[in-house]
Amino acid sequence: MKNQNDFQNLYQIIKQKKGLLKFPKEFIDDKNSKEILKDLQTHVFEKSIETSFNKVSLNDYYVFFAKIFALLRIFISDGKFSYYYYEEFGNNYELFYSEIEDYSILSSIEEAIEEGIINLVSNLNEVRSFENIYYEREKTYITPIPVFLYGKKIGIIVGISKNLLKQNENISHLFFCLVNYIAPLLYSSQLNYQLQKKQQSLSLLIDVTEDLSYVKPIEDNIKGVIRSLSQSINCNISALILMDSNSQLYFKFTSKGLYPLILQRKWKIGADLFSESISKNLSFIINNMHKNRIYVKTFKIVSDQIRSFLVYPLQAVNFKGCFFAGRLKDEKQFSHEEYDLVMTMIKNLGIFLNNIYLFNELKVSYELTTSALASAIEAKDPYTKGHSQRVMRYSLLIGKKLGLNEESLKTIKLAGLLHDVGKIGIPEAIITKKGPLNEKEYKIMKKHPYIGYLIVKDIDYLKSGIPFVLYHHEKLDGSGYPYGLKEDKIPLFARIAAVADYFDALTSDRPYRKGLSFNDAMLEIKKNSEKQFDKEVVDAFIEGLKT
Ligand SMILES: [Fe+2]
Ligand SMILES: [Fe+2]
Repeated sequence: MKNQNDFQNLYQIIKQKKGLLKFPKEFIDDKNSKEILKDLQTHVFEKSIETSFNKVSLNDYYVFFAKIFALLRIFISDGKFSYYYYEEFGNNYELFYSEIEDYSILSSIEEAIEEGIINLVSNLNEVRSFENIYYEREKTYITPIPVFLYGKKIGIIVGISKNLLKQNENISHLFFCLVNYIAPLLYSSQLNYQLQKKQQSLSLLIDVTEDLSYVKPIEDNIKGVIRSLSQSINCNISALILMDSNSQLYFKFTSKGLYPLILQRKWKIGADLFSESISKNLSFIINNMHKNRIYVKTFKIVSDQIRSFLVYPLQAVNFKGCFFAGRLKDEKQFSHEEYDLVMTMIKNLGIFLNNIYLFNELKVSYELTTSALASAIEAKDPYTKGHSQRVMRYSLLIGKKLGLNEESLKTIKLAGLLHDVGKIGIPEAIITKKGPLNEKEYKIMKKHPYIGYLIVKDIDYLKSGIPFVLYHHEKLDGSGYPYGLKEDKIPLFARIAAVADYFDALTSDRPYRKGLSFNDAMLEIKKNSEKQFDKEVVDAFIEGLKT
């Protein structure tokens, strides 16, 4: 029941059922209660359901609760109330709205809930008070009033008072009538509240995910997630606990903390809560941990001041750890919404870390492939040893001067190293021939750009470098090979490659001739610029060499 139509239907049903809820006559006749009921009905009940569901703010609901609680004070004049909604999934009660501000009183109610007393009393067919033995400062009474909708428990209103509710059948009946009269709105408000919370988590998740970046250092990414997460769940201490290669646990990326000293602690994986979480991939919400002796070790690690724990494991290929948030005694307990948020964010972080790991692995294997190919060329053609590296360097120089983006420079780097990879397919006799090549040999040699293309075309990360490899011997006037492309038919990468490659060929020593000096080679290229080479590329190269 989470969309507006459902609420409209619900409203229709309630309208028809209203007559069935019979308030005792004396209550209806009572001037005071009549006024409040009328007000409740017209200003809150009608308004909030009939107006667009999305427009009802939490504040509207708080006004609504204030009115309901005022109504309940007709019977328990010194009562202060809280509303807990029933969370079916976790079979527990979550605090939704309270006019009790004292945490120790709220915590006494939570203890009574945990012990099952409130549930027990609220399941009786009457509303009755019992002494609050969980609150020691003064004598108080707890009055639980269950809220049902179509026979299904949706929550519980809990009253705290110094006076005992006078037991009487009529009072019980009245309470049930009243509370069930408002049940649909309570239900719609808690659904809306849950929805709003989900939306908040979702937008936080989107923000944090957008913030994750493969360019940023991993540590910064993790820190960002932990910081956002810690800010959105209210807690006294929070941290990511990581396990090192010696199975030692330590605090890392703390966003909040009361005790700087504990953050330097290191401990061997063992029987504490964090070790359990990490070694068994378990998550926990533990409220009021002082009751359980098993967790003494955990107290030793974080301090026994922390009573509520939310722990969620982080499992990534190269990160084993857990996120942990803690609250002091008397603070509110961790809710299932907070648990869901932590789960989503930490899982998301785990996926991201795994992706980075895979990405790096892939990068390593790319680099290995590239250098394996590059050394394969050099093994075959010792005279051009270093040629590939130099062509890469010159091309990068030109690319930078031309203001190309990072992505293009990366392509140039790889393609520069591999531009002559096709020479692997040329007979060794031709490659290593000590004199100039004859016509037949030259014809075979001219195949190397195309063979190179065949090698790189199926390697995904090298595809963008194809123009560099395939056309690096093309000339603007169409005198190049393998296709004799002209002018702007030659891609920019290839025009860069041609200048870099030719310059290195001119300046390198060959068995049959000595290489030119940089200046002479430059003059030679300048002479040919516009005819064979792109003038802009040549100018960029000259500029680049000067600096
Ligand atoms: Fe070449
Ligand atoms: Fe070359």
